[in-house]
Amino acid sequence: SSVNIPPPECMLRPLEVPYRYLFGPGPSNVPPRILAAGARPIIGHLHTEMYEIMNDIKRGIQYAFQTNNHMTLAMSGSGHTAMECAVFNTVEPGESVLVSINGVWGERVAEIAERMGAKVHTMVKSPGGYFTTEEIEKALAKHKPVLFFLTHGESSAGLAHPVDNVGDLCTSVWVINAEHNCLFLVDSVASLGASPLLMDQQKIDILYTGSQKALNAPPGTAPISFNERACHKMFNRKIKPVSYLLDMTHLSNYWGNDSKSAREYHHTGPVSGFFALRESLAILAEKGLENSWRQHREVAEYLWKGIEDLGLKLFIKDKDLRLPSVTTIAIPDGYDWKELLAYMMKHHQVEMTGGLGPSIGMVIRVGLMGYNCSKFNADKALTALADALKHCPKRRG
Ligand code: GLV
Repeated sequence: SSVNIPPPECMLRPLEVPYRYLFGPGPSNVPPRILAAGARPIIGHLHTEMYEIMNDIKRGIQYAFQTNNHMTLAMSGSGHTAMECAVFNTVEPGESVLVSINGVWGERVAEIAERMGAKVHTMVKSPGGYFTTEEIEKALAKHKPVLFFLTHGESSAGLAHPVDNVGDLCTSVWVINAEHNCLFLVDSVASLGASPLLMDQQKIDILYTGSQKALNAPPGTAPISFNERACHKMFNRKIKPVSYLLDMTHLSNYWGNDSKSAREYHHTGPVSGFFALRESLAILAEKGLENSWRQHREVAEYLWKGIEDLGLKLFIKDKDLRLPSVTTIAIPDGYDWKELLAYMMKHHQVEMTGGLGPSIGMVIRVGLMGYNCSKFNADKALTALADALKHCPKRRG
């Protein structure tokens, strides 16, 4: 017997990757320093030096999240992995989960929770909408969930959801009735490092983010942190979580967070991805969180003004609810949004994107995150937009 499938033509050609200005909702461009960190020679995932790097990552996440939580780690996978990890570990089949949906991320969590057999209740608003404390309080009282999900950085709508007081509501439900131990789960994939968020002070029980947005690392790792309340719930389960890979009993050991003296093999983590993540967290620590928040806000305001000067309308009217990392523009009358995006890509190598999930056809999204977050890049984005508006044919309106 011999091989009868020849080497594919494409594999005999060199890899080609264009340079793109990634001004969409992520991934964002990765600065040379982080690329170089990711290109360091591999070491074993169970070497002591790797454990040190993982310990550093833990400390870096604690700073970025503003938490003292011991149970802090990075998932091997994208933000979705962290999303599934949070739900799979803290919820058991048949338990009540409350999910606020005002864009695509709530939809995802509702589906994930439903797939693992939770009783899912949703609060739904169209993209751009947000939930008042009263609405949340009422829904918590009605559904008595074990988990309440909220998206802080709703990248599909461009909304930064207020988080103050929500943790208090979840805690008080728990204190009054231990059976209704409601954990507060927050998605900060698109907002972490760009929009103020203080895990411990805002009483967030579980928080996760992704590596590829304001942190500027390559996609593929996802910081997550669980507080004591969350640990209590997830380590006192009746049945094991549905996923072996995402089981926090194993992951806590892999990250040196349990009481065992040795870390055991569970899975092989993305070694290069962890190098890059460590470097991105180091850059954030050097810069300072508050400086990073300020920079994102200043550049976003500059971008917002430029967008309005082009005669376009911002999708989120209230400035204080706008996500500084991902700006949403209402699709201008008469234009085909796909043509505008294709034009910018073709003539400027600039990526912007359309909506996602329920916001498809409503918005164009511009993201200037971390390394990309500068007035220079805002001008570049505005130039591309202005050029597309000038050259793309108007069809309707
Ligand atoms: C992905 O994260 C997006 O917002 O498009």
